Amino acid sequence: MTTLLYSGYYDMDKAKEPFEVDPNFFYLTSCDIPNILILKKGRKHYVHMKVPDIQWYDSEYFMKALKHCFNADMVGIDDIVRLCKSSGITKTLDNIKTHPNWSKIRGLSLDMSSISNNLMKKREIKFIDEQLRIEKACRYTSEGIKHILRNAYPKMSQIELTGLFKQSISKHGIQELSFNPITSHGKYNQYLHYIAKDRPVTRGTLVLLDLGCKYKHYCSDISRCFPISGKFTKLQKDIYNVVLKSQKYALTLMKPGKSWSEITHKVKLKLYEECLKIRLVLALDNEKDKISVVQQLMPHNLGHHVGLDNHDCGPILTLKKDMVIAVEPGIYFQIGKDKSPHLNTSVWKQYEHIGGVRIEDTIIITDRGYKNLSKITKEIDGIEKLIKK
Ligand code: GLY
Ligand code: MN
Repeated sequence: MTTLLYSGYYDMDKAKEPFEVDPNFFYLTSCDIPNILILKKGRKHYVHMKVPDIQWYDSEYFMKALKHCFNADMVGIDDIVRLCKSSGITKTLDNIKTHPNWSKIRGLSLDMSSISNNLMKKREIKFIDEQLRIEKACRYTSEGIKHILRNAYPKMSQIELTGLFKQSISKHGIQELSFNPITSHGKYNQYLHYIAKDRPVTRGTLVLLDLGCKYKHYCSDISRCFPISGKFTKLQKDIYNVVLKSQKYALTLMKPGKSWSEITHKVKLKLYEECLKIRLVLALDNEKDKISVVQQLMPHNLGHHVGLDNHDCGPILTLKKDMVIAVEPGIYFQIGKDKSPHLNTSVWKQYEHIGGVRIEDTIIITDRGYKNLSKITKEIDGIEKLIKK
């Protein structure tokens, strides 16, 4: 079998972020060097890398890493093409199209789907060393969130909140993030993938943090909310408790063999019941109506796989031991949308200024249930205690 793998394109002059290796490439090779092609033909390895990259940028590091990963011959791109041509079909990854020499490679008989299709299923179940990396990433992310809670104050900007997180993870030698950090407050919490701006966090508002760093390429994903002024208001507590009770309920359902769509359905009904207690939704008999009004309040999935990608391996189907999952219910007050007839509009208006609440933990599915990797409280008392007075 002939396999041609590409770590990914990285322009060392122009890039502004650290290099992010292709997840499937890393999974198969444990190598995270940019701009490298690895050809495996039978038992022999060949490596192609742009020469200037080796000469201009820390060649010592690259050569040592390469030697460590593979006992390979360094070859030119024409050699790679010739070696592939002589072996029929070459299995590769989709990112091969981004290689600067794609025009030479595209004429080969390439199979771009079978490796990634196989890996999609395989990567759902995490080996112990993958679990340990995610656990460490979660520990550092939890620490980073605590660092924000202890040091944030009203008028500090959303970008400064992000900066506190980066400062905290940098103490562990980390700068890679699982995704663009989300640090929003008040009405901005309604935007699910909000990007922090130079906006001062207004006194009295609720801050939403959705953060994750990577440890040795493995992601973490944790969301917490806290009142910037130190104490939750009555209205903030109401919404926070709806989400907290539903998130805790969701966790009780996390067991091997459970269907994710059934779990999601149950959690949506729980969200509905909790919203009914605060009269945010109308009393309804029909389950379909209950689900549809919750869909408007929580317009995203209950969770996702976490691994080399933050949204790893496609949708969750049935839970299995050693899967790593983010569980993240939320309630949002999204302005400008037609409102469901099942919402209690006057109550909705009272809560609108809160913007949104999301509570998210990253967990591992175990033999009988789950292990929570988030190491930061989500209790109202616990959060208030952590906040700088
Ligand atoms: N926590 C960010 C996301 O899941 O998209
Ligand atoms: Mn998430």
